[in-house]
Amino acid sequence: MFRLLAALLSVFSFQSMAAPERIAIVGAMDVEIEGVLPKITNLDKQTIGNHLFYVGELNNKPVVVTKSGVGKVNAAMTTTLLATEFNVGSIIFTGIAGASAPELEPMDVVISTALVQHDVDLTVFGSPMGLIDGYDSREFIPSEQLVERALSSAKKVLGEERVTTGVIASGDQFIANKEKVAYLYQEFNAKAVEMEGAALAQVADKFAIPYVVIRTMSDKADGSAVLSYEEMKKATADNSVAIILDMVK
Ligand code: ADE
Repeated sequence: MFRLLAALLSVFSFQSMAAPERIAIVGAMDVEIEGVLPKITNLDKQTIGNHLFYVGELNNKPVVVTKSGVGKVNAAMTTTLLATEFNVGSIIFTGIAGASAPELEPMDVVISTALVQHDVDLTVFGSPMGLIDGYDSREFIPSEQLVERALSSAKKVLGEERVTTGVIASGDQFIANKEKVAYLYQEFNAKAVEMEGAALAQVADKFAIPYVVIRTMSDKADGSAVLSYEEMKKATADNSVAIILDMVK
């Protein structure tokens, strides 16, 4: 009886003392996280290899903020490190994207309800485009709760009419072609195209960590994409950050 009581007490005190899980905030480029960094308190910079993580608090909540670098491999590596080294309870990706739904314009926001890797091609074996070997679906589904929270913060910060939810397609390509973007919209029903989200999703899914991707459109992924991207990069990146600052309260 005494032993049982002692065991229960030790479990209870361990649980009450365990460090709270951190919220991870990830962007691919400096411009996508630089709006968050000055807001972190009790900042401790930690490196693994040459990868820098900003550990601290945002509005008194434990966070880890990091730049993944551009592309799916960078996103996957970063998410693996967050999952294994930083006691992360949720992951929010912040950044910019090309609009692939024709009705969307630069400065509009897409919050992910599904993520797909549009450049995965095993079609010669009869698989649909985007389906990764060993998976039943080509879509990774983010946390409904995080999507709802992101949506309500986005609407509050930016107004209803500029915010939508939908599929985000990721691949190791900057899309700047009218035909290609039309194909991505048709094939995947993708509202936005970018280069990291679905890779982060695949890894977060593996570790059962809830996640959401928030993207502000910097361009329309067509012939005007490069110019629009350069011009809109900073304003659109800050737009996504503003949503996160409201979410993490
Ligand atoms: N990020 C921002 N715009 C993009 C585009 N057109 N293609 C891929 N990633 C992007």
